[in-house]
Amino acid sequence: MRLDKYLANSGVGSRKEVKILIRKKRISVDGVIAKSDSIDIKEGINHVYLDGEEIIYKEFYYVLLNKPQGYISSVEPGVYPPVTDLIPEYAFANLFPVGRLDVDTTGTLLLTNDGELCHQLLAPKYHVDKTYYVEVDGKMSDKLIKAFKEGIMMDGELTLPGDLVILSEHAGELTIHQGKFHQVKRMFKHFGLNVTKLDRKTFAFLNHEDLELGEYRELSLEEENALKNLVKH
Ligand code: URA
Repeated sequence: MRLDKYLANSGVGSRKEVKILIRKKRISVDGVIAKSDSIDIKEGINHVYLDGEEIIYKEFYYVLLNKPQGYISSVEPGVYPPVTDLIPEYAFANLFPVGRLDVDTTGTLLLTNDGELCHQLLAPKYHVDKTYYVEVDGKMSDKLIKAFKEGIMMDGELTLPGDLVILSEHAGELTIHQGKFHQVKRMFKHFGLNVTKLDRKTFAFLNHEDLELGEYRELSLEEENALKNLVKH
């Protein structure tokens, strides 16, 4: 891989900015000041330094965001800005959201540029658990618990069993194992209830407890590996 690409993909700066760093002799490769943008860097063999500090190349990034309302789960603006606007420091990595939260839904959203993992996490066969805090404009009742467990007809098939825990008259926590379009809202709407607040508390084992709305962090290596293990079989 070209040196300028290696640096840009590692988050050092834009292609233009890293070229300037090279020109200013701040980049070295294996102890020698780099004289060209196009030096061929072999990952794991050549060592690249900025001002003497090694730049470790990473192909894939995994970022956990506590999504606020008013952003769409997309990489392009629509009526609302895309969630990627909230993580400008990762613009170089071209992250995209793993699945979709509605514009008015808050909570746990994973973004990555690892297309294969994204695809697997969303594949119905892996049934990744998602737990939502839900408030509705009517009464949460035991009949919902039973109905969600049995599944309700949606898009011509029964939804997989969902687990509803009633927290108060109007609030509950629903865990589902698939991700149909507007699934939670449609499940409650089936019983004439409108969702007035929706927050995704967990996606698999990931949650947003350590993040304020709009905050984000990179996954640890352990979390990254645990996600990959989830979809291994
Ligand atoms: N289900 C919904 O209805 N909306 C979301 O944002 C997520 C799940």
